[in-house]
Amino acid sequence: MKIAVIGGTGLIGSQVVTILNASGHEAVPHSPSTGLDLLSGQGLPGALEGADAVVNLTNSPTFDDASPAFFQQTMDNLLAAASAAGVGHVVVLSIVGADRVPGLVYYRAKVLQEDILKAGPVPYSIVRATQFFEFMDATVFSTADENTVRLPATLVQPIASADVAQAVAGVGVGAPLQGTRTIAGPEVFPLDELGTITLAAHGDHRTVVTDSSAGFFAAASGDALIAGDGAVIARTTYREWLAR
Ligand SMILES: NC(=O)c1ccc[n+]([C@@H]2O[C@H](COP(=O)([O-])OP(=O)(O)OC[C@H]3O[C@@H](n4cnc5c(N)ncnc54)[C@H](OP(=O)(O)O)[C@@H]3O)[C@@H](O)[C@H]2O)c1
Repeated sequence: MKIAVIGGTGLIGSQVVTILNASGHEAVPHSPSTGLDLLSGQGLPGALEGADAVVNLTNSPTFDDASPAFFQQTMDNLLAAASAAGVGHVVVLSIVGADRVPGLVYYRAKVLQEDILKAGPVPYSIVRATQFFEFMDATVFSTADENTVRLPATLVQPIASADVAQAVAGVGVGAPLQGTRTIAGPEVFPLDELGTITLAAHGDHRTVVTDSSAGFFAAASGDALIAGDGAVIARTTYREWLAR
């Protein structure tokens, strides 16, 4: 199959391209650095020419109030071009619980992205993943000062980006789901406990202070970010990944 991977230079996209090409498909990465700007639509018709499927792994440059407009514009452009090019399948990667954290504008933007895809003219699949292990350092250190790291006890079920990429690649070469596949890590942690594990792995002697108002994930409560029944559970544990 010929698969256009938009955002194919990013964390997930670059791994999806490698997996697909290694399994005999023709996956082509696209991003601003290769001449495709999904916001303006520049380079889009050429990128989709002859593609059987498109996997959209772009991300908004910011997670703030600008993110809904990013996902609105990029999805409008993508679906119009995919429909015109006769592409048979569009896949996007979203976030487990995006619809359960209304206090985060970025999560509302991801729900908007899903809704545009569902209402659009092209057969589709949505993959929802939990937070990537690779995202945990930024999460933990975003609230750090000299002596402490402040984190809420929000439950998270993080996953290796490599496991997400495998799932996305598998969906990309399959038939459109006309629905959502959920993938999550093998363990659930309170984020403050995950912070302690992360600091120890870095040999960082700061202490974690539990603070229900600290950082990005303070807006998520209960099990909002935890995958429910029916999720695919990935194998790689956080400690195994940290030890690599
Ligand atoms: N972080 C998490 O824990 C998590 C969890 C679940 C789902 N997700 C979702 O996973 C997706 C991929 O995330 P990621 O971490 O792989 O992202 P990433 O590493 O930031 O990569 C984003 C990609 O999008 C490209 N891009 C940005 N603006 C573009 C534009 N206007 N036109 C075309 N391409 C553009 C970038 O190209 P350049 O490299 O050239 O800038 C890059 O290839 C996101 O949609 C995110 O919401 C994330």
